[in-house]
Amino acid sequence: MRRFSSWVFLGCLLAILFSPVSGTMLAQTPASTSEKTAMESSRQDHHSYANLEAVRVRHVALDLTVDFEKKILTGTCDLTIERTGADRQAPLVLDAKALTIFKAEQSADGKSFTETTFSLGTSDPILGAPLTVQVAETTKHVRISYQSSPAATGLQWLTPAQTAGKKDPFLFSQSEPIYARTWIPLQDSPQVRITYAARIRTPRNLLAVMSAENEYKPVKDGDYRFQLRRPIPPYLIALAVGDLDFRPLGKRSGVYAEPSVVEKAAFEFSDTEKMMTATEKLYGPYRWGRYDILVLPPSFPFGGMENPMMTFATPTILAGDKSLVSLISHELAHSWSGNLVTNATWSDFWLNEGFTTYLERRIVEALYGRERAEMEAVLGRQDLQRELDAFEDRDEILHIDLKGRDPEDGQTQLPYEKGVLLLRQLEETFGRQKFDRFLRGYFDHFAFKSITTADFEAYLHQHLLDRQPRLAAKIPLKEWMYQPGLPASAPVPKSDAFAQVETAATAWLEGKQPAVQLPTKNWSTQQWVHFLRFIKPKLKPEQLTQLDQAFKLTETGNAEIALEWLTIAIAYRYEKAYPALETYLLTIGRRRNVRPLYQELVKTPEGKMRAKAIYAKARSGYHPITQAAVDEIVAKD
Ligand code: BES
Ligand code: ZN
Repeated sequence: MRRFSSWVFLGCLLAILFSPVSGTMLAQTPASTSEKTAMESSRQDHHSYANLEAVRVRHVALDLTVDFEKKILTGTCDLTIERTGADRQAPLVLDAKALTIFKAEQSADGKSFTETTFSLGTSDPILGAPLTVQVAETTKHVRISYQSSPAATGLQWLTPAQTAGKKDPFLFSQSEPIYARTWIPLQDSPQVRITYAARIRTPRNLLAVMSAENEYKPVKDGDYRFQLRRPIPPYLIALAVGDLDFRPLGKRSGVYAEPSVVEKAAFEFSDTEKMMTATEKLYGPYRWGRYDILVLPPSFPFGGMENPMMTFATPTILAGDKSLVSLISHELAHSWSGNLVTNATWSDFWLNEGFTTYLERRIVEALYGRERAEMEAVLGRQDLQRELDAFEDRDEILHIDLKGRDPEDGQTQLPYEKGVLLLRQLEETFGRQKFDRFLRGYFDHFAFKSITTADFEAYLHQHLLDRQPRLAAKIPLKEWMYQPGLPASAPVPKSDAFAQVETAATAWLEGKQPAVQLPTKNWSTQQWVHFLRFIKPKLKPEQLTQLDQAFKLTETGNAEIALEWLTIAIAYRYEKAYPALETYLLTIGRRRNVRPLYQELVKTPEGKMRAKAIYAKARSGYHPITQAAVDEIVAKD
């Protein structure tokens, strides 16, 4: 695959030498020259064309009109730039994918602009194209006039039929990992940190929200302004537009959703303020001001996305009993791990997600108790095991090599669940008190910086391992980060509540107890999920009917229980659940929930036909990210 021209490669080498972050790293880490070189080259971002060694964008100001008819954003993007290298003549190289560029202008004072030349390179299917803009030595501002394409991966345009209200269209963005470039021309690397401002023009009756300070407006007027004063990586810029209502949750938190959903959401997320305080107690102040949650229509391809000040979330976690709110603790936790301390490249993604999963479970423990956190840890360990059984070695490495690959290839559960086990081993070895103090120091030290796995490793040595070498000897750190599989000493989460579920399940499976006598009355969602996973390989076909009659599983409104049940239904050809399966796949677009169902379906020829028939109806409603994942399963032949 075509990658980079040689001068971009040279640029990357220079970037390493002049990067301000690696500068601070070097100062605190006495290392040999060869170690240094290895550490520095691990900063190279293989997924951006930006010439960070010469020019860095510091601020982005957008002025965009949302055109629902044409499904495009159109307007301008003003970039405030700073020269960071010796080459004062170097052009500004941006990332752009599926964008139409009309004009580039430059200015020294941000007031009077003159037109300048630009060129768009050939487009790589994964990376898009470099957009090279000629800029004078004195230029501080660059203005790009452009529009996005209806096929932009980073945007989903929903018809009214795909919303809860059915009256108005809806738009949302999803920029992580490298889709910001499909709706904004910018340096799309997580090593860049920018502040941003935006003016968004929409149809008058709709509300726009962004991952920034949202201006308070008592009436919708179709003209909204935003600003984010804290520097973030570009993948955290986010926008949504729709018929949105708001309910406050606490002093500094609230929820946005369509009017018919907002009350339910406000109930489900009523612990948000408590989660914030619990996290602050453990890891230091919440540094982003407000924390709001936006509940999207069900085609949102993820469970949640940690856009700063405004988590984007799937409505499928509105179970009515707060049983799936660990997703909020996860996205909130990213306000420390991910948004404050950011992975420098997509190979370091586990620093975002492994740390966040660790924090997520600590928050769940603080609010709902150890047992609930342990149940979720066990389910996570099961997810990990499934991947370890299926993956090639190269995809089982925390610091995954993504050179020449799509960063999506690294976005599995592995960085989450293997990462969290490493942190758990550190906690268990050094003790909670010490490890909590370590983490708090880590967030302070690297606040508003982007770091690599090697940076973490150096910091960990200096602030934890090297202080207690006898304990450190118990941590096979290199193996954790650079080898496939799990170290033999990996912690094993255990749940008593699950052990009870297994005992009861076994008695029922063996015919010693009828289904109605299963002690399910107080089972949590997690216990149900565990029960269904546990019985899945051991069932007799008639037992599906018994279970369904006893517990109405086919009708469950809980998206996680439904996922497990429908997987079983497919595996055992339990036809009564097929209509529910179809409805699920036609309404929910969350990749993690639909992918396993299609995977289960295509295991048999009959199932494959069913998969194709359902997907033919469902595809156009899915987000491009989910479409790409399901295409691989269903459209393969
Ligand atoms: N940042 C991720 C979502 C993401 C990952 C988007 C990679 C694009 C690329 C988010 O924080 C996340 O992990 N979401 C999970 C939910 C979480 C509770 C594990 C999801 O969406 O399933
Ligand atoms: Zn996450």
